[in-house]
Amino acid sequence: MNMKTDKVLFVCLGNICRSPMAEYVLRYQAQQAGVGERVEVASAGTSGWHNGKDMHPGTAAMLRKHGISPAGFTSSQVHPFDADSYDWIIAMDDSNIDDLKRVIRFNTEQTFKLTDLIPESGYFQVPDPWYTGDFDETYRLVSAGSQALLRKLGLL
Ligand code: 4NP
Repeated sequence: MNMKTDKVLFVCLGNICRSPMAEYVLRYQAQQAGVGERVEVASAGTSGWHNGKDMHPGTAAMLRKHGISPAGFTSSQVHPFDADSYDWIIAMDDSNIDDLKRVIRFNTEQTFKLTDLIPESGYFQVPDPWYTGDFDETYRLVSAGSQALLRKLGLL
């Protein structure tokens, strides 16, 4: 039986809205599916603008609304060695991908957008609620993408 642990890093710009939401949703979904010990999840921002800060209150509220505790978060920045440290690096939009290409050893098998996993959504990027204010839309995409990732990893 394959008990390999997949290490997943979600990436957005600020690491306070979208990628923290994805981190907490994936961890929760894996726990709910009884495979919590098979995935290690983290998140980071390309910018580092909010290093050391908690997640956005809108993200925390959205997690709570769906029964997920938002406790224990600290924002951090993508590290140049993250391609060595993680099996999967999953970004939220095209600018994250452009920024990642400048920082990590990049290959498209390992590093891609969350929306690549949910073509049926009709979205090609996860909109940034920092600008849209629509944390529900972000949650819908993050939740569907996270489910699709668990399926891709053979955990659902
Ligand atoms: P995130 O959203 O990339 O989903 O965390 C943002 C958070 C902060 C800023 C931009 C986007 N900002 O300009 O500080």
